[in-house]
Amino acid sequence: MLEVRHLAVNYRGVSAVDDVSFRLEPGQIVGVIGPNGAGKSTMVKAILGLIPCESGVIKFRNGSLKQHLAQVAYVPQRSQIDWDYPITVQNVVMMSRTRHTGWFRSHSRQSQEIVRTALERVGMWELRKRQIGELSGGQQQRVFLGRSLAQQAELFFFDEPFVGVDKKTEAIIFEVFNELKLQGKTLLVVGHDLGETSRRYDRFLLLNKTIIADGSRSEVITAKNIQEAYGDGVFLLQREII
Ligand SMILES: Nc1ncnc2c1ncn2[C@@H]1O[C@H](COP(=O)(O)OP(=O)(O)OP(=O)(O)O)[C@@H](O)[C@H]1O
Ligand SMILES: [Mg+2]
Repeated sequence: MLEVRHLAVNYRGVSAVDDVSFRLEPGQIVGVIGPNGAGKSTMVKAILGLIPCESGVIKFRNGSLKQHLAQVAYVPQRSQIDWDYPITVQNVVMMSRTRHTGWFRSHSRQSQEIVRTALERVGMWELRKRQIGELSGGQQQRVFLGRSLAQQAELFFFDEPFVGVDKKTEAIIFEVFNELKLQGKTLLVVGHDLGETSRRYDRFLLLNKTIIADGSRSEVITAKNIQEAYGDGVFLLQREII
């Protein structure tokens, strides 16, 4: 589905991501974990072509990913969204349909139906007329999840979707992830959780500038790997979990 080969990204000559290679298969929920500053967001943005990369090849179904961006949904880290931007919940989700309908044509009835279904699925239809800046953190996260659903993509990137959300929103997000997985979609989810919810992922990539481990939960979340990625202090904290 997606193949990343030898991806490297520098910011003003300083390396942030180096020699990252992996493949994603359909119907998988893949977690990307690693400490703050490990390059998780940078890696995702470089794969999507939102920032330039030093080197690397990104392939999607044997073509280049750039040719298939309509099939890729991206939910950025919350801190990277301008929450003061004056736009309603409904219009945020409707924007994901632009590629299908074009800016200058009125949104088709079908798109309006898709937007409604997506907002209902994440429990945000009632608040559709609200400005996005007037929502709680969990509600904001659900709106962007709804937006990715309305895009009807094949490949999904979520950057820290669980930050600042309560258990109810977390449950909704995981339910939606599972539905997408069962539809054969591919999900790459950046997160920090090594605890109980990590069981919901099919596979993990442990990143600290480069890939330290790639595999199942038990293969990746080991004391040795965590120590290598996070340093000594965290090893002690994670011991209970492992
Ligand atoms: N626009 C930028 N200009 C310069 N350096 C940057 C920029 N964005 C990120 N960096 C640096 O690149 C490195 C990787 O940052 P990145 O945001 O990708 O990490 P992350 O793994 O997503 O961290 P977090 O868990 O805190 O979200 C960090 O050292 C960061 O300071
Ligand atoms: Mg990040």
